[in-house]
Amino acid sequence: MAQIAASASLTTGHAPFIEDARDHGRLYIDQPYELYSEENHEAWRRLYQRMLPKWERHANEHFLNGVRSLCLDPDRVPRIEDVNRYLCPLTGFRAKPVSGYIPSFLFFDCLRNREFPTTITIRDLATLDYLPEPDIFHDIAGHVPMHTDRAFADTLVRFGECAHTAAEMASYIRDEHERLRRLTSMLKAMARFFWFTIEFGLMQGRDGIKASGSGLLSSFGELSHAIESPEVQRYPLQLEWAINQAFEIDHYQPLLFVADSFDQLFSLVDRLERWMREGRLNNVAPGEPEISERDLRSFLEAAPSA
Ligand SMILES: [Fe+2]
Repeated sequence: MAQIAASASLTTGHAPFIEDARDHGRLYIDQPYELYSEENHEAWRRLYQRMLPKWERHANEHFLNGVRSLCLDPDRVPRIEDVNRYLCPLTGFRAKPVSGYIPSFLFFDCLRNREFPTTITIRDLATLDYLPEPDIFHDIAGHVPMHTDRAFADTLVRFGECAHTAAEMASYIRDEHERLRRLTSMLKAMARFFWFTIEFGLMQGRDGIKASGSGLLSSFGELSHAIESPEVQRYPLQLEWAINQAFEIDHYQPLLFVADSFDQLFSLVDRLERWMREGRLNNVAPGEPEISERDLRSFLEAAPSA
């Protein structure tokens, strides 16, 4: 028994609890807090400690307010229920533990219901800069502070509604090949816009450009690079550009977009949905990201029968 407890942990890639959940097809899970090892807590402590001064310099003010209002413990992996106790009264959002990747439609549908699918594993203490998949630091420290902001939270819900519109629009197409082609294009547009705003967005602040995207806010190396490096191109956010712009995930982003405000972001997601209904997202530029069979299926299965 003691041996099982000693070998148990919630380290990314080495978490028997998560493997078991995946093997049994359980997407939504509990957070078995007692399984976090001391190494797991130490990984959180180091990640948090080294990001704090970077956030103070480069994070937008809504994120910094969010970190304060969530009262995250700098020394221990957070309990999701504690996070939700502070988060929920502010915007109705709650973090929802998942066993890993969930199909795209379900992800967006969670957002529509003000639930944020949240990974509970944490990266290996020995390789803090290597992130093969999202972990609890990315999800809770990178994403969730933004969910305390009402305008940002409403923007996420609007993204969720777009997913329903995509499923609906696809359901109107009789020809199967054409249905898949258009759906792929709409999902590419959505994924790109989400990437360039929610994950890697910059925002104009009172004293210069700040980060608002969670991929930046949870990356020790890329946060300063994104704000300060002359190698990064930074342009005002334009919907028509972002939805046609391919991106790669395995290196620092060479091109980032700067939004004016969350109100602007909300109105652009609104426009994204309108363009979807008008058929203007049926032929976006080819290229990354690839849309997987599983993601397409999640939308087709969600489509209302026409
Ligand atoms: Fe993310």
